Amino acid sequence: MFGNGNNHKLKIFSGRANRPLAERIAVDLGGALGRIDIRDFPDGETSVRIDEDVRGRDVFIVQPVCTPVNQHLMELLILIDAFKRASPARITAVLPYYGYARQDRKDKGRVPISAKLVANLITKAGADRVLALDLHAAQIQGFFDIPVDHLYAVKELAKHMRSLNIPPDELVVLSPDEGSIKKALDFQKNVGGDIAIINKQRTSATEVKQGHLIGAPLDGKTVVVYDDLISTAGTIVGAVRVAHAHGAKNIYIGATHGVLCGKAIDKLKEVSRDCNLTQIAVTDSVPIPPEKMLPNMKVISVAGLFAKAIQRIHGNESISALFSDESPAEKR
Ligand code: R5P
Repeated sequence: MFGNGNNHKLKIFSGRANRPLAERIAVDLGGALGRIDIRDFPDGETSVRIDEDVRGRDVFIVQPVCTPVNQHLMELLILIDAFKRASPARITAVLPYYGYARQDRKDKGRVPISAKLVANLITKAGADRVLALDLHAAQIQGFFDIPVDHLYAVKELAKHMRSLNIPPDELVVLSPDEGSIKKALDFQKNVGGDIAIINKQRTSATEVKQGHLIGAPLDGKTVVVYDDLISTAGTIVGAVRVAHAHGAKNIYIGATHGVLCGKAIDKLKEVSRDCNLTQIAVTDSVPIPPEKMLPNMKVISVAGLFAKAIQRIHGNESISALFSDESPAEKR
């Protein structure tokens, strides 16, 4: 599959974290996933057996490090180890979501830098390259001493937003905190409209406090709150409430990773009702189980983006073409 008859064929395998996405990527590339048997031993350890020959192949393993995070991370490491011992030409860890990304610095005494530890583990297990999507901080690439290709879902989410035909002069992109300004600006470059930012303070891992609004007025506007991640949803829900309080006419959410843990779904349900939240658009970087699918949720696939990147990496072509910019007007 995926090749022209030589031995250096491309093969895609999936862990158990997001098999539907891996299947969509394989279909986009015109093939099927490689055969692999992954099970749990009775004591909870992970057992892996690759059910086809991979000697000399260009192997891609799709596994977001999403909930249950530690299990999926360990499974990824064991998968890489199994492949390493089966003599492929190259192993690329495809990480639609990089868990532990937010623990990327020592911001207080005696804490780990878990994002760096995860990079070390993936490299030590035997990955030759990494293909990631919307890393929480782009600098995480520097934690790896192997090549990292970093994709962004901004074009996929922007394309969806443009399909709603909201006139750019009615649109304001709202960054829910200072840390997401660059992402929000990239999104705004792709959809047009104006930009505003909320000054957020995090009071704990699950609590945030929204402060001032900086930038364009939201009164009577269609506001898109844009972020890389919805985890407990405290940040995004707070931003929706600020937008509503400032008189936004319609409110949308756009985010790459719908992690949706803890009380996220309850908070999103509540804010949808209280603030007339029109739509929550997230990608399929992590699976959204049916019980978390809200009526106003829209899942945008990043399978095509990954398929193009994998094809290019396999063919030793640049992937920067996937990021080339057009103006919103050109794309409408
Ligand atoms: C913050 O730096 C991120 O961009 C997200 O806003 C944040 O991590 C989301 O977390 P939560 O949904 O738990 O507020």
